[in-house]
Amino acid sequence: TKGDRQMNIEVPAVFPVSYQALEQEAKKLMSKGAYGYVRSAASNEETLRKNTTAFEKWSILPRMLRNVADIDMSVTLGEHTYPYPIFIAPVGMQKLTHEEGELATARAAKTIGVPFIQSTVSSYSIEEVKAATVDSPKWFQLYWSRNEQVSFSMVERAERAGYEAIVVTVDTIMTGWRETDIATQFSPLKEGYGKANYESDPAFMHALGEKTDHESMIQSVLDNIHYPEMNWSHIAALAKRTSLPIYIKGILHPEDVQCAIEAGASGLIVSNHGGRQLDGTVAALDALPAVVKAANQKVPVVFDSGIRRGTDIVKALALGAAAVCIGRPFVYGLGIDGQVGVEKVLENLIEETRITMSLAGIARVKDLNQLKLIRE
Ligand code: FNR
Repeated sequence: TKGDRQMNIEVPAVFPVSYQALEQEAKKLMSKGAYGYVRSAASNEETLRKNTTAFEKWSILPRMLRNVADIDMSVTLGEHTYPYPIFIAPVGMQKLTHEEGELATARAAKTIGVPFIQSTVSSYSIEEVKAATVDSPKWFQLYWSRNEQVSFSMVERAERAGYEAIVVTVDTIMTGWRETDIATQFSPLKEGYGKANYESDPAFMHALGEKTDHESMIQSVLDNIHYPEMNWSHIAALAKRTSLPIYIKGILHPEDVQCAIEAGASGLIVSNHGGRQLDGTVAALDALPAVVKAANQKVPVVFDSGIRRGTDIVKALALGAAAVCIGRPFVYGLGIDGQVGVEKVLENLIEETRITMSLAGIARVKDLNQLKLIRE
């Protein structure tokens, strides 16, 4: 098998286009446990469902005959300009989906021109991803460690590797109640996925001491990540330690915007972790307008959770997002055909976004805030 791929199943002759087709094809190619881990979400999966249906409640009111021959999709966040308003969301343990994991995804991101956000619990380390992609734009997503020296050490490694920003995910102080994984008895960390950045971290290994066996190491990773005591002072401490911009991922309440900015955040990511953490929350898209308003142009607001197609991207940008992160769609592309699969998913999303902007009469992503949406 290739990673956790099932045997005897070939890459499809015609690459799936729609999200539903991607999911179906990936289901055939991935093991039950791995597919369940990617597809599923917390508790009753209400938030997972709401994240996508929320898009149907907002309708585009397009403008006609506005010369849209030159579509400019570029966006500027802080000091960096990127060709598309699209990022690869941090997704851990990508070796579960394909043997080449993050190396394949980061290479695809580089080929297409999309920044890659690397998870703390990636299957390949910061240094391995850097070596595979050299100078393409990359951000590092931090799961704060109870041992703050480990957090600081990982951030320093990302700085040294030339990563452009740090994303601190704040909705995962513990893992959500994921019934599919409980039922399939699937625990990727325990199976050895997602520890590359720990094994290669001097602060983590120093704290581990002599107990370097698999069990002790995984227990230590879990003890570090599970940290209900975490609060905004940890973000402030990190802001003092790094010169990189810090994006806080997992904001839904507008009053958390001020907390994040006061702690030193340079940007926000509105997200409910694709419904994998707290179930029963507001759809991420429905939380976006109030967060954008509270941010009041002081910091960029990135969006994820529920993006499946180009029209979704355009709607999120029209509601004030500076850019979006792609999650499950690229994971399925990776499962279907590695680097090539991720490239195809990204190409299709970009092309559909380009067509949507054209037909809606807005030529520049920077002007998408002028696109009128009607709430049905
Ligand atoms: C994630 N996500 C995530 N987020 C994060 O900050 N660190 C991580 O390691 C992971 N790992 C992860 C694994 C898998 C399999 C999935 C599907 C998601 C959440 C991710 O960044 C993003 O918020 C969601 O994927 C967005 O939801 P949709 O659009 O994928 O439904």
